[in-house]
Amino acid sequence: MSFFLVLSLIAFAPLCCFSGKTHGSYLYPQFYDHSCPNAQQIVKSIVAEAVAKEARIAASLLRLHFHDWLRRIPIVGQQRNSARGFEVLDKIKSALEKECPLTVSCADIVTLATRDSTVLAGGPSWEVPLGRRDSRGASLSGSNNNIPAPNNTFQTILTKFNGQGLNVVDLVALSGSHTIGNARCTSFRQRLYNQSGNGLPDSTFDQSYAAQLRTRCPRSGGDQNLFFLDFVSPTKFDNSYFKNLLSSKGLLSSDQVLLTKNEEDIFRKQRAVLRAVCTVHD
Ligand code: HEM
Repeated sequence: MSFFLVLSLIAFAPLCCFSGKTHGSYLYPQFYDHSCPNAQQIVKSIVAEAVAKEARIAASLLRLHFHDWLRRIPIVGQQRNSARGFEVLDKIKSALEKECPLTVSCADIVTLATRDSTVLAGGPSWEVPLGRRDSRGASLSGSNNNIPAPNNTFQTILTKFNGQGLNVVDLVALSGSHTIGNARCTSFRQRLYNQSGNGLPDSTFDQSYAAQLRTRCPRSGGDQNLFFLDFVSPTKFDNSYFKNLLSSKGLLSSDQVLLTKNEEDIFRKQRAVLRAVCTVHD
């Protein structure tokens, strides 16, 4: 099985269909075949147009899917200011409301948009089971606590994933989404300076890679400067993210901790990363 297939099966199954069942009814790819037969085509063409204008949109939509799923609340409305890519989802939603009013859920839109983005970035394709219903109420602040922070420890991140029914293999596979997209200097600065009070980069960093990053992510200032999460192939959905981790060139702390050489975790974590990398057919 190819890396891509493994990643999509492991990674996206829990995100997109979650046991294939929602609110007592089953999800299936043909859900809109009668009620909105052009739905998938409409999503696809708007995503393609957006990605053609700006490749990073594929990554932004993928990240929105992750956050939408963790929060379990509709991605429209009050969150629209908090992440990139909403405007694309808004555009899709408007087009679908015109085509078939009150039919296609936001949760299905973001899931389809993620699949299409992944494909456009050179990743795998898969059939998306459809028929999710949007949640009507949830606590934004409460559910935000589910979202892992880049400086969380491995154990905290894993606990957050476990809380959503995901295990260590899911965590590693899903983190592979950092094969595309960017992060701001503020998201990883603390790794570059003063980890142990000496002002040097975190010892889990490849030191020459860290030195390069420091030139555009200074100790202060440059907060919004952007860096590729996967510097080898930043817009391509491939396995170089995992290879980077193996050579200590993960950008975020939350990436590199997947490989921390802690005696107790070493087998569990490294096996999960290596399994993802070694299923590659380059
Ligand atoms: C394991 C815990 C995770 C942490 C701590 C984390 C954290 C982050 C952070 C800090 C950024 C950069 C934000 C910025 O600086 O503006 C980012 C970007 C991104 N994340 Fe994650 N993430 C995690 C897991 C995931 C998962 C599971 C996915 C998808 C399934 C994902 C997809 C992405 C993508 C595609 C981007 C780039 C977005 C863009 O360029 O617009 N992340 N993540």
